[in-house]
Amino acid sequence: MAAVTLTLNNELISAREGQTLLEVIRDHGVDLPTLCHLDGLSERGACRLCMVEVEGTSRLLAACVTPVQEGMNIRTDSDRLLRYRKMLVELLLAERSHVCSVCTMNGKCELQALAVRLGIDHVRYEALHPALPVDASHGRFVLDHNRCILCGRCLRACDEVEGAHTLDVMGRGVRSRIIVDFNQPWGSSFTCTGCGKCVQVCPTGAMVARENIAGRVEKRPDFLLRILDGRQKRVWRW
Ligand code: FES
Repeated sequence: MAAVTLTLNNELISAREGQTLLEVIRDHGVDLPTLCHLDGLSERGACRLCMVEVEGTSRLLAACVTPVQEGMNIRTDSDRLLRYRKMLVELLLAERSHVCSVCTMNGKCELQALAVRLGIDHVRYEALHPALPVDASHGRFVLDHNRCILCGRCLRACDEVEGAHTLDVMGRGVRSRIIVDFNQPWGSSFTCTGCGKCVQVCPTGAMVARENIAGRVEKRPDFLLRILDGRQKRVWRW
């Protein structure tokens, strides 16, 4: 694969053609915040937290869905970017109910960790917090729409790794919601295999295993890479 040369935060670096900006930026030690990205899944470009400045365009580009190009000049840490990232997380916190003190993911939540990292100690926007349903119809898992940030990691894990495509998104804008099959209770789904991959990759308390409800959840979203690697190496044979 051909090499390309670009500038990252005033430093000349090289990358491989076909890589995304996010891959290159992380390869060079910059911890760009992300929420919808997860190693092992396709990119969605949904959360926009990975946005960067690229010389020559006034638009901020999502690094996870932007391929590297020869001669790019990228900034990841300008005041403008920090301001917008903070705003994005605040808008997520204002959109649905994220009361950490009564959430099973308190202390493990990626959204909460990001808010702490960005120094968010209050939200400047009016809270919408619609009262959304909690689907507790499944024998092992619970889906709380009030905690969902619509990153789409659950449905991509279900579709791309498990191959079930039980989950999808219904509606638009603030009415968007994760649905099971044709919007039926999770417990009555004929396609769900009960593998729990969606629960493991969910960054917030929107999807949790029943046994974790009363205690703190320990999720391992990095297990996807082990599964994908094992499949490629044919570790498991039938
Ligand atoms: Fe790039 Fe979400 S990680 S848009």
